[in-house]
Amino acid sequence: MAERLGAVASAALHREQPLPALRVTEGATDACAVLVRLFTLGRSVPVAALAAALPTLGVDGAVALGLVVVGAALPDAGPTARTRGASAGGADAEDDRWAPPGDEVLATCDLRPYGDDAHDWWVASDLSELAVGGPLRHDHVLGIGGASTTLASWTVRRPVGRALDLGTGCGVQALHLTAHAQTIVATDISRRALAYAAFNLALAAHDAHGAGPTTDLRSGDLLEPVAQERFSLVVSNPPFVITPRGQGLPLYEYRDGGRAGDTLVRALVRQVGSVLEPGGVAQFLGNWEVPAGRSWREVWAEWLEEQARDGVALDAWVVQRESQDPAEYAELWARDGGAQPGSDAHSRMYAAWLDDFGARGVEQVGFGVVTLQRPATDRPVWHALDEVHGPVAAPMGPAVDAGLRARTWLAEHSDDELLDVAWSCAPDVTEERHGRPGAEDPTVIVVRQGGGLGRAVRAGTLLAAYLGVADGELTARVALEAVATVLELNPADVLAEVVPQLRELVADGLLV
Ligand SMILES: C[S@@+](CC[C@H](N)C(=O)[O-])C[C@H]1O[C@@H](n2cnc3c(N)ncnc32)[C@H](O)[C@@H]1O
Repeated sequence: MAERLGAVASAALHREQPLPALRVTEGATDACAVLVRLFTLGRSVPVAALAAALPTLGVDGAVALGLVVVGAALPDAGPTARTRGASAGGADAEDDRWAPPGDEVLATCDLRPYGDDAHDWWVASDLSELAVGGPLRHDHVLGIGGASTTLASWTVRRPVGRALDLGTGCGVQALHLTAHAQTIVATDISRRALAYAAFNLALAAHDAHGAGPTTDLRSGDLLEPVAQERFSLVVSNPPFVITPRGQGLPLYEYRDGGRAGDTLVRALVRQVGSVLEPGGVAQFLGNWEVPAGRSWREVWAEWLEEQARDGVALDAWVVQRESQDPAEYAELWARDGGAQPGSDAHSRMYAAWLDDFGARGVEQVGFGVVTLQRPATDRPVWHALDEVHGPVAAPMGPAVDAGLRARTWLAEHSDDELLDVAWSCAPDVTEERHGRPGAEDPTVIVVRQGGGLGRAVRAGTLLAAYLGVADGELTARVALEAVATVLELNPADVLAEVVPQLRELVADGLLV
């Protein structure tokens, strides 16, 4: 699709601007252009063009699957009901998409190719805002978006028995889970979403000739449909968007789930341990409110304390990727509902967000990726609260997997045991030396990680000297004692200074 549309139209589409793609595909008769116009841009295409684009399925087949409707009639068809506009109050308004003439077809849904390294999938969802050309219905079923791919990228892809996708929507995370889980339970509060997920999983199973995991779709609120069950992996891109309640603002199931503040994400943190088996991992995205006078780490410390009080204490690795003030947040989400900046509706929403945050004294809203792990052994839990705004590895899952293992190893081993390992610098680590021109010694040495979270660590003389010899041959203890001898320092002082730094480098994957 990207190749057919060209770089400019493709990039514009990623910014939700359809015009360049509409111009590129106007009047085109090749299959790719016809299908993009129909299923991505929401335009009608001639019946004959669709027949040529789908030579095996045919137009009748597409109608029978509920993917398109022909001619003037727009019955409630499709894997789910047709897309309609939604008024600001959330009630369905009449469909304002024009009914096509009898020799044209219109899509009932968005349908697009998607995949991972080893699979090609088709994913149906509701037509997007750019195709519908107006506000979305309150039970809109979201297609694959930036948040979906972020979570998919960060997910640890170990082979697992049972996996849960909570709030599956069109089923995109569940599709990814088919690559490494034996049984997948996918839940959603929306029956329309479950219908799409069922359709997409059925298409994937058909393409896999029936091979693949068992999938089980269930309707219900948060963990209620899976209470008393256990999973090795839980993933969720939950409706985490903080939205003012009770001010006549639209409610979007896919976006805010109808809750106030950050209570939904907080509830997930508190409850998810109850469905994790020992060693099990839960990963989800979230927003969190940071009130004036507090840091996001303090907020999370309180959430994790609450989590440990309510159930079995979990390891936690939270990476804050972004932080916005109330106005930035309001601008982002007031626009997302389809209201145009400058319109009365937009100003009303913007003000409602500011009021809502103001009422709770919120100064910042954090966004990030949360990874929780139920310890497999009886040991104290570890918490890592990192802030990383820059680019990270893609996919990030392998680095999260390695980070979980490293942090767990550190929690289970003493400083003495750490020193008895012959660590080596990971292959993606480089060293930068900064100094005045002509100076013999650098004033600053920075050790930088190429992958993972892209860590940059300022190294003092001792750490830099150790890293220079950390090639997996000498244990850290032997190497550091040698450094102490060369620099004529007390070995015990050297160990005491470097051990905490070693722990951080091992946790972050710079030492392996
Ligand atoms: C942001 S969408 C995520 C869709 C998909 N998993 C993805 O990664 O793109 C959130 C989904 O959670 C569902 N949802 C909302 N409230 C829920 C609740 N209380 N319990 C379970 N699912 C809920 C919505 O219907 C929606 O499908």
